[in-house]
Amino acid sequence: MKRLHVITWGCQMNMYDSGRMADVLAPLGYVPTPMPDGADMVILNTCHIRDKAAEKVFSELGRLRRLQEQRAADGGRMILAVAGCVAQAEGEQILARAPYVDIVLGPQTYHRLPEMVARAALAGGAVIETDFPVEDKFDFLPDAAPQGITAFLTIQEGCDKFCSFCVVPYTRGAEQSRPATAVIAEACRLVAQGTREITLLGQNVNAWHGEAGGLGRLLHDLAELPGLLRLRYTTSHPRDMDDDLIAAHRDLPSLMPFLHLPVQSGSDRMLKAMNRGHTAADYLGTVEKLRSARPDIALSSDFIVGHPGESEADFQATLALVREVRFAQAFSFKYSPRPGTPAAVTPDQIPEPEKERRLTELQALLRDQQARFNAGCVGLRLPVLFTGPGRHPGQIAGRSPFLQPVHITGSDNLIGNEFPVQIAAALPNSLSATLVEERVCA
Ligand code: SAH
Ligand code: SF4
Ligand code: F3S
Repeated sequence: MKRLHVITWGCQMNMYDSGRMADVLAPLGYVPTPMPDGADMVILNTCHIRDKAAEKVFSELGRLRRLQEQRAADGGRMILAVAGCVAQAEGEQILARAPYVDIVLGPQTYHRLPEMVARAALAGGAVIETDFPVEDKFDFLPDAAPQGITAFLTIQEGCDKFCSFCVVPYTRGAEQSRPATAVIAEACRLVAQGTREITLLGQNVNAWHGEAGGLGRLLHDLAELPGLLRLRYTTSHPRDMDDDLIAAHRDLPSLMPFLHLPVQSGSDRMLKAMNRGHTAADYLGTVEKLRSARPDIALSSDFIVGHPGESEADFQATLALVREVRFAQAFSFKYSPRPGTPAAVTPDQIPEPEKERRLTELQALLRDQQARFNAGCVGLRLPVLFTGPGRHPGQIAGRSPFLQPVHITGSDNLIGNEFPVQIAAALPNSLSATLVEERVCA
């Protein structure tokens, strides 16, 4: 038995990939361990989306190096691998600055990990695999290990949209959809292993397409799986929100009434500069269609403030869009110049204090909307899928249809199933509730 420790930064797709890397290494005898100390292999699965991504990686590598040295002093060997989007973007630079790293691999090559580990064990030098391979990694991965009551399932990878600010098209490569048959087979295995809620993942998940149609069609097929209580998908692009997909929100009770639909800005001028391919009115039109299809749908979004060229009027347009939509939750970020992206070399960069001011103002508005949304749930009866123990003894926790964490006083026997609860109070980031004595689902 060898011990494998995986550190995951970034999005849900990286979380999924980390699990799959462990799956690939399991036949070699690697068993996941919660601590890096004394591990035989550590994988740092990195994210390049914002801020000083590379600096964070090197500082973490410095910490891991000390554990690697300790392991060597104890007569063992710790293989150190850097995976994910920083590995893809920085490649050789990582080995130049951290020569103690054994393996550098991009997000599309991890099916080759066994071979890389063998090469790293033999060779004096490091192994680097960051070319986009011709083969599809999914064709070479073993079946996924059980994930639990809720699970992620990557159905789409990569991005062809090339937003001005974003590194993803460069780190993940071109848009690719997994075949419907492969997705359905993986979903069936997850359900057989006890999963009750699946979140379909993709950098642009709603750009997924199969032979018989798009994501709306796939959701219909998955909704047929007996035992699967809930479906979700993330992250969607407004441009790919087609009528079939919107209709799925009306027609499929197991498709949860929650959608993360990033808009980034409410200003048409900025949306154009960002190369988003839609206007604020297009986005509001989609929101209206979604709300007609599923009146209780909760909406979430991503925003960037201080993209190059953003004026005060542009920023005010973002605030106006937020006020109009009324989000249930949202993420907002200061624009962060990313190497190799067009926006990073645009001259009219916004000064840091101004970005900071806009972010503070936007976040206050979004926080207020989230609080209102949560407060609006008090008194409602909602089905909650219980996923594990709560924060305090005697408590269990789960998620509402709107993705809010919900705590109740209740027995562990309820974990793994969906039960109706009465929402009693809204806390800043969660709801507390009491169980309603009637079972909704088995
Ligand atoms: N594919 C998704 C987003 C993936 S990246 C979409 O198109 O909506 C997740 C979020 O990170 C983005 O929605 C954006 O808000 C933020 N982001 C991406 N690049 C950024 C940058 N350079 N600076 C600040 N935020 C950024
Ligand atoms: Fe990045 Fe835009 Fe692609 Fe989303 S759609 S991953 S923001 S380039
Ligand atoms: Fe980060 Fe790569 Fe995901 S840059 S957000 S880990 S696609």
